[in-house]
Amino acid sequence: MNGIKILGTGRGVPSKLVTNEDMAKIVDTNDEWITSRTGITHRHHLAEGETITDMTVLAARRALENAGISADQIGACIVATLTPDTLVPSAACCMQHELNLPHDTVCFDLNAACTGFLYALHTMECLLNASERKYGLVIGAENLSRITNWEDRGTCILFGDGAGAVVVESRPEWPSISAILGCHGTDQMLRVPGVEKGVPSLIYMEGTKVFKFAVEAVPYCIDQVLARTGKTVDDVDFFVFHQANARIIDLAVKKYHIPQEKYYKNICEYGNTSAASIPLVISELHEMGKVGSGSRVLVVGFGGGLTWGGAMIEFA
Ligand code: COA
Repeated sequence: MNGIKILGTGRGVPSKLVTNEDMAKIVDTNDEWITSRTGITHRHHLAEGETITDMTVLAARRALENAGISADQIGACIVATLTPDTLVPSAACCMQHELNLPHDTVCFDLNAACTGFLYALHTMECLLNASERKYGLVIGAENLSRITNWEDRGTCILFGDGAGAVVVESRPEWPSISAILGCHGTDQMLRVPGVEKGVPSLIYMEGTKVFKFAVEAVPYCIDQVLARTGKTVDDVDFFVFHQANARIIDLAVKKYHIPQEKYYKNICEYGNTSAASIPLVISELHEMGKVGSGSRVLVVGFGGGLTWGGAMIEFA
């Protein structure tokens, strides 16, 4: 099977900046509590008139430009999201139109909550095997401010909006990203009800229980990816974690003795952006030159479902 590597990255960040002080005007909270418990100081929300399509198209255009690839070279486009602007057309179909992707480009959305980007990358690796055009667009994008319960201080302070994109290429001589993916299939601790009649479709989360799940899921994913690829922690150039809580990342970093120059947290700036979180980190790291040609990056995600995933992703 062909493997994929990242060629280019980009992001679309909403214009409205919401600080912890702003949150304290909505619910009974304060900057000290939010910063110490989560690492978040502010987050971006879609402003009036801004859409997820605006963000995905912006992120994708930047990723295409960064990769030096034109829209007509793209064989497949997957948007990982649980908050598209419309259920139909999908966020990926909206992008197809805006970006002028060829009509035979496979375009669809994928929902695996915060693990969505990793599910989408694995799906893209499989899809490009069978595609004549060997370039793919994978985007993670969320408008979580739309489904936030503004009366629940335990959750509303956590989430943000945004989009991150990567352009990947598939080649027979490249290794697979060796994705390990899974789920427990439960709505007990974390759910968004959806279109059920009479039920407001807002995020419900039992934070402490999800925290415990995450703290076990992260090392499980790291161990599985290392075992599958036959690599050690030292073989990894950079670790990218889903940004749900700075404390979850700190625990993983401590457990694996990962040096400071090999991981990155941007949760202070974005909060938890679910499927957008990992590609936002990757895009920033790429722009800063911390990862680039030849880098081997171990990526870990977890979230609603309860889902989890890990992969070893290389840059072309
Ligand atoms: N401001 C001030 N106090 C708050 C608060 C807020 N925004 N939110 C909750 N509190 C209070 C609670 O009411 C509770 O008060 P009590 O002790 O008087 O009952 C106290 O702070 C502790 O709440 P708790 O929920 O136990 O805090 P926590 O240490 O577990 O932190 C989270 C809460 C949500 C930050 C944390 O559990 C978390 O990050 N969980 C994982 C979330 C996650 O990964 N989700 C996404 C998966 S993709």
